[in-house]
Amino acid sequence: MLYPLARKALFQLDPEKAHDLTIRQLQRLINSPLQYVIRQSVATKPLTCMGLSFSNPLGLAAGLDKNGECIDAFGAMGFGAIEIGTVTPRPQDGNDKPRLFRLVEAEGLINRMGFNNLGVDNLVENVKKSRYGGIIGINIGKNKDTPVEQGKDDYLICMEKVYAHAGYIAINISSPNTPGLRTLQYGEALDDLLSALKSKQQQLHNQYQKYVPIAVKIAPDLSEDEIVQVTDSLVRHKVDGVIATNTTLDRHLVQGLNHCNEVGGLSGRPVQLKSTQVIKLLSQELNGKLPIIGVGGIDSLIAAREKMDAGASLIQIYSGFIYHGPQLIKDIVNHL
Ligand SMILES: Cc1cc2nc3c(=O)[nH]c(=O)nc-3n(C[C@H](O)[C@H](O)[C@H](O)COP(=O)(O)O)c2cc1C
Repeated sequence: MLYPLARKALFQLDPEKAHDLTIRQLQRLINSPLQYVIRQSVATKPLTCMGLSFSNPLGLAAGLDKNGECIDAFGAMGFGAIEIGTVTPRPQDGNDKPRLFRLVEAEGLINRMGFNNLGVDNLVENVKKSRYGGIIGINIGKNKDTPVEQGKDDYLICMEKVYAHAGYIAINISSPNTPGLRTLQYGEALDDLLSALKSKQQQLHNQYQKYVPIAVKIAPDLSEDEIVQVTDSLVRHKVDGVIATNTTLDRHLVQGLNHCNEVGGLSGRPVQLKSTQVIKLLSQELNGKLPIIGVGGIDSLIAAREKMDAGASLIQIYSGFIYHGPQLIKDIVNHL
């Protein structure tokens, strides 16, 4: 109800300043008597996925709450899951600013944040403090200054630190803003990473007597052949889920718009169709062998339904939430 007003004010600000201000205000509000301003009740639509019980299929996508600072606030808005991160072993600043741009006419965003985050230890402390009863996904990545050939070590370090605190762990190998990261989606590099992650998962499972599923997040820019190959690897290694998709490098739907040629990943409505096509293909290839978490341009109930119809078991939003606010959560969850 208040969001159209808040959005008007926030959209006057530089996008990253608006983001940081929102995070700070949400942190304040949720710990104050004014928390009712952000709290909303949504219908319960329980489901089980990757062996976990979700109160509804809609989650917050990674990147909005990179450090897990607002888990309770986003939880209060009705998300069935909150994916925090991407987090790296060591804190890092990310790329130079400006690095986040609105393409308002297309309801899109371009970002080249570059995994700015306060490091995995800080994130874990924030998770420990949260009171959210839903599923917390922790999305992990590698530091920029870790050579990609040693990237695996960064994922293993993060996995070890977050395992006890995560509902599921998301493996981000699809951000376009960390040089070389996307190469981990192919061939031997992928097989090598997945086999290391699975044996670490086995070891941590024994240690904590708790099985934490692993979901791999892929790019929308893979060719059909590449999707078939990724699928084959995910199934062979018994990965628990796949998150499709991250942002795109493709600009053909936003030609001529302000900021369209900024370097980075494009999200929001312009990636909607592309991500749905990837989900459809994944779904055909996977044939139910592992669940798909659908993300990319969900900006309405209809767009959410399209993702589910394409084969997603769970869905996530980021850019749609920036443009439509918490009402979008209600619109989707109550009517799905
Ligand atoms: C500003 C921004 C930062 C993001 N940061 C991350 C990130 O750190 N890790 C990640 O896996 N995805 C990140 N994403 C990608 C989103 O999680 C999502 O996959 C993508 O934006 C498509 O969904 P959307 O169209 O609903 O935004 C980011 C997206 C945006 C817009």
